[in-house]
Formats: sequence, C-alpha cells, structure tokens
Amino acid sequence: MPHRVNRRWVLARRVTDEVSEANFRFEEAPVPDLTEGKLLVHNRWLSFDPTQVLMIVQRDPAAPDEGGLPLGEVMHTLAVSEVVESRHPEFSSGDIVHGHMGWEDYTVTDGTGFTPVYRVPDGVPPEWAVGALGLTGLVAYFGVHEVAQPKAGETFVISGAAGGVGSIATQLAKIYGLRVIGIAGSRAKREWLLEEAGVDAVIDRRSEDVGKRLSELCPEGIDIYFDNHGGPTLDRVLEHLRPGGRVVLCGITSLYRADPAPPGLQNYASLIMVNGRMQGLLGRDYLPRRSEAFAALLPLLRSGRLKSKEDVLSGLREAPKGLARLFSGDNVGKQLLRMDEPPAR
Ligand SMILES: NC(=O)c1ccc[n+]([C@@H]2O[C@H](COP(=O)([O-])OP(=O)(O)OC[C@H]3O[C@@H](n4cnc5c(N)ncnc54)[C@H](OP(=O)(O)O)[C@@H]3O)[C@@H](O)[C@H]2O)c1
Repeated sequence: MPHRVNRRWVLARRVTDEVSEANFRFEEAPVPDLTEGKLLVHNRWLSFDPTQVLMIVQRDPAAPDEGGLPLGEVMHTLAVSEVVESRHPEFSSGDIVHGHMGWEDYTVTDGTGFTPVYRVPDGVPPEWAVGALGLTGLVAYFGVHEVAQPKAGETFVISGAAGGVGSIATQLAKIYGLRVIGIAGSRAKREWLLEEAGVDAVIDRRSEDVGKRLSELCPEGIDIYFDNHGGPTLDRVLEHLRPGGRVVLCGITSLYRADPAPPGLQNYASLIMVNGRMQGLLGRDYLPRRSEAFAALLPLLRSGRLKSKEDVLSGLREAPKGLARLFSGDNVGKQLLRMDEPPAR
C-alpha cells in the first residue's frame, strides 16, 4: 500500500492526574510491513475502557517508564477492523474482525494479544461487535446471568449503571425480573436510566449520600451488587447486603488512577454475617463462550428489548477525548469512536 499513511496516536506523557490530549502525540508514519503469519487491518471502530489508563498511568515518578506502554508507542485498544491483507492462515482480506489493535488507521497483528482476533459473525453491526457483543457485553451478560445467579423479584444495585457495561447489565437485570437501582453520576445518565432502561430508582453518586439513599431505597437489603466502581461505593453497599447476597466484581473505575491506593475495604466482614459471596470475572476468559452470550443477547438487541446505548465520537483525532470522557463521566452508554478515512497520498 505505497500511497497510504498511517495516522496514529502515541503516548507522549504518562498520566499523573486527569487524562487529556496532552498525554498523547498525533503523528503520521508509514503503514507497517506485513510479514508471514500476520494480518494488516484497517481499524473502523475503537472501543474505550477505563482499564486502558492502567498502561499509561505514572505510578513511580522515579521510574516513569516502568511497566505499561512505553513512551512513543501507539496506544492500545480493542477495535473492529477490516482485514486489508493477510498472510495469516485463518484470515482473508475483507474479513471483519474484533481484536486488540491501536489508536491508528492500520495495525499489523499476529492475531494474539490481550484478546485474540476473531471474525465478527455476519450480520452483526460493528458497533455491537465492539460494544454490546464485545467484552463489554460479555462481562455484563456473564456477570448478571452466571455470577450473580439472579432470581426474579430480587433487589439488584449497580454502579456505573449507565456506562458501557452498566447499560447492558442494568437492562438485563430488568429483563430477569429484578428490582434495579442504578448508581450514576449525571443528570443525563439518570434520565436515560429512568426513561429508557426502565430502572426502579437512581442514586446520583455526586450529589447524594449513597449509603443514606441505599437505606431509604432498600430497607430490606440488597441481594445483588454489580460493582463497576470499587472503593467507597463497594464499602457502602456491603453494609446493606441481605442473607445470601452476591457481589459481582467487574471493575474499579474509582481506583485505576489512585496513587497511592486508598486503604482497603472496611465492611467486607459483612459477607460473613450474611453468608454472602463476592466474585470477580474477567471478560477475556469468557471469550471462548461468546457464542452463548451472542445467542442470548442478539435476539434481545434485534427485538429492541435490549438497547445498545452508544456514545460515539467521530474521527481518529478524537481518540484521547474518548478515554478522558470515561473519567470525567461524560459518556452515556458505551464510549466508541467511528474512524474517518485516512488521507491517500
Ligand atoms: N472484568 C472485565 O473483564 C471488564 C471488562 C470491561 C470493563 N470492565 C470494567 O467495567 C467498568 C465499566 O467499564 P465501561 O467500559 O463500561 O466504562 P463506563 O462505565 O462506560 O465509563 C466509566 C464510568 O465510570 C464512572 N467514573 C469515572 N470516574 C469515576 C470515579 N473516580 N469514581 C467513580 N466512578 C467513576 C463514570 O460514571 P458515573 O459518573 O455514572 O459513575 C464513568 O462514566 C470499568 O471498571 C471497567 O474497567 C471490566
């Protein structure tokens, strides 16, 4: 591809406080060479996840490059991409794939990485493949369906309720017949949760006392807590668990940038008193079972019973904004970016 350039964002400065465009540098480079066993893809949709900050955050000022993504390297992401050229036995040009790519127009990959590259099933829109049916949807589905073991009528509380994972998990909990209370951080999220997702109540984590509101809304306690925040929110919820209560540990958005990490949980012993359990799940370990999640979620998405709420930025230039919005809390639904066409030279 001699007349194409690869526009890309590389890491320029590690994150010490807020994530912003100043942490990255936009540059142009030649399209990478393709060698045996690899495929060249054109990235079409980029996904943003709070854990991406872990590879660029500065933990030890004395060793700024210690661990994580080295300065000058292309920022990593999950993406849906089109195979342009393949010297890999399992892929052909024209395939639409999901995998571990970069904030760039073109990526060369051997198909391995944090998540292995796989072909997106025919008829699945790319924005679903990278969101509601990507890792985001997998953790929501297996977290609610399998880890939480829900029973109709139970009380389900979820933090990050109107985010990418949260927007799917929240709606699934309603579909399973649970009473759902969402914890969220903005008026736009509150409105979406009440008007579109049909939750029973919303707690605004910024303007309300979460513990007090949980006492008011759940006088008989909480059966399931789906945790996207970690830290103090989890501690508050633990005080309200009912006998047999389950906590699904999905993420710790409130802690990814915390340095030093705050002191540990104060209320974990509540689990003893209620014979409760707390269980984590790692989405990529469920990838081999993605056809189960697809079989459950696709009909719901197609019928409109489950809405894929997406917050879509446009054009590669906006990529740093995509990550920053997860920490400012501006995203409503899954934060995605639809790529623009690279310049032909
Ligand atoms: N286990 C896995 O395999 C797996 C896979 C994917 C994602 N995850 C995790 O799932 C969680 C949700 O991911 P997502 O992609 O759907 O992100 P998201 O919820 O769409 O976006 C992040 C949200 O976190 C909240 N937030 C930001 N800073 C915060 C802070 N300091 N304290 C508390 N809340 C804060 C904001 O929502 P509010 O203002 O509304 O609270 C923000 O919109 C993340 O922790 C992510 O790492 C885990």
